[in-house]
Amino acid sequence: MTSLSSQSPDLKVLIVEDDPNVRLGCEQAIQLAGIPVEGVASAEAALPMIGQDFPGILITDMRLPGMNGLELLKNVILNDPALPVIMITGHGDVTLAVEAMRAGAYDFIPKPFSPEHLVEVVRRALEKRSLTLEVESLRRRLAHREAIEARLIGRSPQIEKVRRLLLDVADTAVDVLILGETGTGKEMVARCLHDLSSRHAANYVALNCGGLPDNLIDSELFGHEAGAFTGAQKRRIGKIEHANGGTLFLDEVESMPMAVQIKLLRVLQERVIERLGSNQLIPVACRVIAATKENLKDLSDKQRFRADLYYRLNVVTIDLPALRDRREDIPLLFEHFMLHAAQQHGRPLPEVSREQLQQLMAHDWPGNVRELRNAAECLVLGLRRDFGRASTAEPREQSLAEAVENFERSLIAAELRRQNGNLARSSEALRIPKTTLHDKIRKYGLQA
Ligand SMILES: Nc1ncnc2c1ncn2[C@@H]1O[C@H](COP(=O)(O)OP(=O)(O)OP(=O)(O)O)[C@@H](O)[C@H]1O
Ligand SMILES: [Mg+2]
Repeated sequence: MTSLSSQSPDLKVLIVEDDPNVRLGCEQAIQLAGIPVEGVASAEAALPMIGQDFPGILITDMRLPGMNGLELLKNVILNDPALPVIMITGHGDVTLAVEAMRAGAYDFIPKPFSPEHLVEVVRRALEKRSLTLEVESLRRRLAHREAIEARLIGRSPQIEKVRRLLLDVADTAVDVLILGETGTGKEMVARCLHDLSSRHAANYVALNCGGLPDNLIDSELFGHEAGAFTGAQKRRIGKIEHANGGTLFLDEVESMPMAVQIKLLRVLQERVIERLGSNQLIPVACRVIAATKENLKDLSDKQRFRADLYYRLNVVTIDLPALRDRREDIPLLFEHFMLHAAQQHGRPLPEVSREQLQQLMAHDWPGNVRELRNAAECLVLGLRRDFGRASTAEPREQSLAEAVENFERSLIAAELRRQNGNLARSSEALRIPKTTLHDKIRKYGLQA
C-alpha cells in the first residue's frame, strides 16, 4: 500500500517521446532522482501499458508520429480522470498546451527544459498520484468490508477473524485453502474471495473433485484435443483453462485421485497446462481456491494425499468454525435466514418463542449453517416448530437465570472441546481467570 506522507517507491514514470535523444535525457534525469522510469516512442506503445489504477504517471510529447500527445491524453483521462499527465510542448505550441490543460492535463513543460524542472514537476505529480491511489485503496477496502459483512453473518470472534482474513487476502493473487465441516460456508467464502478480487470479471469455475469418476476428472480439469481418447470427438476446454484470469474452486479436494494431484501440483508451480492429446503448453493465470472437510495433513501423513500438494495449497488457510463452537451467532443467523425465507415465500415473519430459542441455542447443529437455514425456512413455512431436542425434554419454561446458565454451560463446553480440554487455553479464549473457569466446570459438571 502507498503511504500518505512519502511517495511510494513503486510508482513509476512512463515517458512517451519519439526523439530518442530527448527521451534518453528525460529518462536519465528521472533515474538520477531515484525514480523508476520507462520510455516508449509512440502513443500506441504506451496505451496498452496504462490500465485502471496505473501505478505511476505519464509524460508525453505533444507531437508524435501516429496518435499525438493530445489524443493520448484524452484517451487515458477517459479511463482514469485522476491520472496525472504531463505534456511536453514544443516552441509555438501554446494553443495546444492550453487545450491540453482544458482536457485534463496535470501540467505542461515547454521545450527546452532543465532536468531539475522536469524532476520537480514529476515529483509533484507522483505525490498527487500516490494520494489518489491511497484514497482509492482505502475506499475499496471499506466497500469490501461492507460487502463481506453483508454476506458473512455473525459477530462471534471466530467469524470476525474469518472476515479480517478474507479482507486481507481477497484482492491478492494468493491461493487459499478453506477448511470446515459441512455447511460452514466454504463455498460461500470461495465465491466471496472471487467477487471481491480484481479478477471478478473473469470466470469463477467450481469443480467438485469428489463428484467425478477418476477417468473423467483429468479431461474436466485439463481439457482434451479431438481424438485424444475414444469418445473425444471435439476439442474440449478444461476447467483450468476456462478459469484463466479468474478463480478455480476445487471443492472436496481430498477426493482428487493421486495421479491428478501430481498434475495439479505442476500447474500450480509452473502455471501452464497441456490439454490431453496435445503437447502444447498453454499459460494459465488463475487463482486456485481449494476446500476440504478433511484434515489434509493427516491424510498426507497417511499417504492418502500428496504432501507436496498439501504444502503448496496451504499458503493461506481459512478455517471456518463449526456453528456449535460459536453459538452466539445462532440468533442473528436464524433471524437473517427467516427474513430471507419470509421474503422469498411471501410469508409473515413468525415469532420465535423463548423455548424455541433455547432449543436453537442448545442444538449441536451437525449440518452447521445450512441446517440452521433449513430450520429457519421450515419455521417460516410452518413445517416445523421444534428444533434439535424434542420439546418434551424440557417441558417446563426456564427462568431467565436458568436460560443464561444453560447458555454459559454450552459456551464453556464448546470451548473445552475445541481446546481438547486444555484449561489454560480455554480460560484465555473465554477471557476469564482459570480459577473462575474451574469453578464453573465443577458447577456445571463438565469434563475438562
Ligand atoms: N456466516 C454465514 N452467513 C450467512 N450465510 C452463511 C454463512 N455461512 C454459511 N452460510 C450459508 O449456509 C449455506 C451453506 O454454506 P456452503 O454451501 O458455503 O457450505 P459448505 O461449507 O460449502 O458445505 P459443504 O461442505 O456441505 O459443501 C449456504 O446457503 C450459505 O450461504
Ligand atoms: Mg460446499
